[in-house]
Amino acid sequence: MNAMIERIFIGVAWPYANGSLHLGHLAGAYLPADIFARYHRMKGNTVLMVSGSDQHGTPITVRAEQEGHSPQEVVARFHQEFLGCWQRMGITFNLFTTTGTPNHARAVHDMFLRLKEKGYIYQGTMPLPYCPSCRRFLPDRYVEGTCPHCASPDARGDQCDKCGKTLNPADLLSPRCKLCGSQPIMRDSEHLFFRLSAFAKPLAEWVGRQSHWRSNVLNFTRRYIEEGLKDRAITRDLAWGVPVPLSGFEDKRIYVWFEAVIGYLSASQEWAQGQGQKDAWLPFWQEGVKSYYFIGKDNIPFHTLIWPAMLLGYGVLPLPYDVPANEFLTFEGQKFSTSRNWAVWLPDYLERYAPDPLRYYLSINMPETSDTDFSWREFYRRNNDELVATYGNLVHRVLTFTQRQFNGQVPHPGEADTSSQALLQRAQSTLDEVDRLLSRCRFREAIRAAMALAGESNRYLEEKSPWKNIKQDPEMAATAMHTALGVIAGLKTMLYPFLPFSSEKLHLMLGFPGAGDRWEWQVPQAGQRLPAPQPLFVKLEESDLEAEVARLGQPR
Ligand code: MF3
Ligand code: ZN
Repeated sequence: MNAMIERIFIGVAWPYANGSLHLGHLAGAYLPADIFARYHRMKGNTVLMVSGSDQHGTPITVRAEQEGHSPQEVVARFHQEFLGCWQRMGITFNLFTTTGTPNHARAVHDMFLRLKEKGYIYQGTMPLPYCPSCRRFLPDRYVEGTCPHCASPDARGDQCDKCGKTLNPADLLSPRCKLCGSQPIMRDSEHLFFRLSAFAKPLAEWVGRQSHWRSNVLNFTRRYIEEGLKDRAITRDLAWGVPVPLSGFEDKRIYVWFEAVIGYLSASQEWAQGQGQKDAWLPFWQEGVKSYYFIGKDNIPFHTLIWPAMLLGYGVLPLPYDVPANEFLTFEGQKFSTSRNWAVWLPDYLERYAPDPLRYYLSINMPETSDTDFSWREFYRRNNDELVATYGNLVHRVLTFTQRQFNGQVPHPGEADTSSQALLQRAQSTLDEVDRLLSRCRFREAIRAAMALAGESNRYLEEKSPWKNIKQDPEMAATAMHTALGVIAGLKTMLYPFLPFSSEKLHLMLGFPGAGDRWEWQVPQAGQRLPAPQPLFVKLEESDLEAEVARLGQPR
């Protein structure tokens, strides 16, 4: 071990437990976070990766009312489903909890009261939509109306799904109560506010120093600061959520966004409890620890401004080191839409396919710097032409040839010729390059570099054609196989964070013991026994592609 062991905290956006996860969620946050976590674990660093179900707020209560179930039933069902998806997709959280635990409520109250004591939370009034016939205040998703930006008639009080703009209930034109359809009136209501304005200067200075952030994240954050950081209401007129720890607020709950981000801290504490060392979270929340927050672009201000402001106000806890937010994934050229069932749901995908082909597609086409698209045709093409024909085929022909011609053992090489040496050098430089790119969260470039090496190795094998030449020149065939097996072992390592299931399988097929989860280039030794090879990937059939296309947008 040469390098120093680092501690890496990885927080991942908390998905609302009001519906299934789709590929957009995976590409936006969970897959990049997992690649990064696996990479650091392979390097020998200590990783704490946490998230959980975001189980409060109107997204949940609206769904519960639609279904005629209690909010608790809804969130329990989807939380279970999420856990199953992580397991089957290979998303390796150290803890995936929920915001419904007593531990979370305690952490939220602790932060809330400290911020209040320091004067960062104050009481005030604001006019809010009130439905006279339902006799209640209507929090964001309970008011609908016409979007002031794009004129869509179905905008909600928090956002317009059509144009994607964030809204306040008061922005809606011809507003209506979601419950009864009547027109709400504006009425003053007492709420608590977070003094975000107090942090304008320190935040601007801090953001100004984050030159390593992605430019989309930095630009978005800068623009937000330039528009002026306003104080924000952090309570809502709801019965479902974390209670407000003050008397007079029994009918209100803490705003879901204000408490969900505190989940990063509460989940770390819960993880420590689960380890039987209640202070084990502290080393991950110390100055100098690099904390990464993997989120979709719609969550940027909460993670680059509001959560940092809360941490500054609270004191002692370090601010995010990086927030590598992704842009959006589209599906067959359009936005994912639950209402039109324009989506690929993760549980459905996992019923029909293995996890690695999707991990591959979403990595090599990751929406890191701009939106990218998922289409079934492209998924089939990438699986068949790239995973099967380029990488899988390289592995398969080398392993089967070795099995047949060298008795299932890594052959003793002859003297390395120029092209064999060049390929081995290229493998070493690619491994270093992928290492550097992964450490900087440049996943797409990293996997592209690894796949280019696989392509190069195929060209090398074509040039050597040991299958044709083994009779005349067995020594050259042995050298070529030894070289190719070495490069494949390197590929197995650099692709491991992306394709953990196939890398594990390949690790065993290369005759190595144990798990293949170390970042090192272990070259198979002459004489090493190789078990009977099996294909790493399967070719997908055109007829199945047609079935997927026929399913598009059909009711689930
Ligand atoms: N539940 C939110 C969403 O799905 C994300 C919350 S991220 C958190 O958009 F950090 F606030 F939890
Ligand atoms: Zn009403």
